[in-house]
Amino acid sequence: MTVQNYLELESLFNISLRTQLEMIANFHEEMKRGLAGKKSSLKMLPAFIWPPSGEEQGEYLAIDFGGTNFRVMSVKLLGQGKISKPIAHNYKISTSVMRGAREDLGNFIVDSVLDFMQKEKIDPQFRVKIGLTFSFPMKQLDIRSGILINWTKDFAVADVVGTDVVDLVESAFFDNGFHQIKVGAILNDTVGTFCKGRYTHPNCSLGVIAGTGTNASYSEKISNIKKSPQLSTKTDEMLINIEWCGFNLFPRNHYDRAVDKLSQNKGEQFFEKAVSALYLGTLTSLVVNSFVATNKFSHHMKILEKDKFFTAEELSLVLAYSDKNLHWLRMTLVDKGIQTTQADRILIKKIAELVFSRSAKFLATLIVATVTKNDPELKRRHTVAIDGSLYEKAHGYKGMVQMEIDLLTLRKEGEINLFVCKDGSGVGAAIVNAVAFS
Ligand code: GLC
Repeated sequence: MTVQNYLELESLFNISLRTQLEMIANFHEEMKRGLAGKKSSLKMLPAFIWPPSGEEQGEYLAIDFGGTNFRVMSVKLLGQGKISKPIAHNYKISTSVMRGAREDLGNFIVDSVLDFMQKEKIDPQFRVKIGLTFSFPMKQLDIRSGILINWTKDFAVADVVGTDVVDLVESAFFDNGFHQIKVGAILNDTVGTFCKGRYTHPNCSLGVIAGTGTNASYSEKISNIKKSPQLSTKTDEMLINIEWCGFNLFPRNHYDRAVDKLSQNKGEQFFEKAVSALYLGTLTSLVVNSFVATNKFSHHMKILEKDKFFTAEELSLVLAYSDKNLHWLRMTLVDKGIQTTQADRILIKKIAELVFSRSAKFLATLIVATVTKNDPELKRRHTVAIDGSLYEKAHGYKGMVQMEIDLLTLRKEGEINLFVCKDGSGVGAAIVNAVAFS
């Protein structure tokens, strides 16, 4: 690996301040176009709910579909911004559910909810209204309907696109003999995260997911949502699911294009493919492979086959372990059938660092872009609620995002403050349910 090669690699993943400022300007334009119903890479979907006050109370059943696990939980809202610790169970979503038949998805949801009820001694014959978090782009006409626009994140269940997900879930319960189980509210995970964030922190302006996928929601004045002038809510605001995962006005390199080619949804979700956990492993592996092909590693190193690609979790550990010999990485590669020298491992770690820090920088850029849409001069303090495995668990990631935000806003630390909004997507479904019926 020569210095020249190294600089080339760095220049592919380095993002200048100028690029960040251009991204912010482009993002503001795309937000406005999306809100006006014009062609935009941001869907800007009205969520038919407004921010909670923090005083909502009651006990709710919430379900959360859209990441690696399906979560069922029971949540108690206590008012005064307080929530008791949710009781939750995880159910692994198998590939056959992710890419299978519509009925299988319905039955999987019913079986998981019934299992939860049995474990937590909840009588399934009770009349319940579930809060349903469904983390995909949906066109909503009210809080009890959500028409799936398209699948993302490698999901591809047949015969669901273009149909109402509330019908899918309610019919599945009905067909299994539980006609009294209904959906009270359907929402995107970012809307849930925003609502949990606002319930507990009154100055929360943004709910972000940085996990398998990435996206955000914020609250917009109804008068600015030009595409739906007839919207009415209890306040003059409505939450907007931005679907920033689809943002495409930012620089992409040939590795980003290669990741897209390998994905289920080619030509879509460009921002998500550069930032989120589902793709960072592939991106890093493709860079490593191109370096193997051009002999930048020792002769021991081999091309990683697709089923041996690094995962984001593995890379997070690579970043975390800093012993001189990078022993953990050595063992991970031995498991993949590959021997390495210490120099090989240092290079792999460097590649992963570049890929993860670009992701953090991109995320920080869109956070600043969203907050400054309605407060361009940052006249007030903003709290940003974030949920998702990448933000929560990837080594050093949180610090990088906050640092990038502070650099970009040139403000003193804390002007835009991030916090981990644990279970935001699930607990948020309970809050939205409460807001909708209060
Ligand atoms: C994907 C979905 C989006 C969701 C995000 C995070 O990008 O399109 O709706 O919010 O993942 O889960």
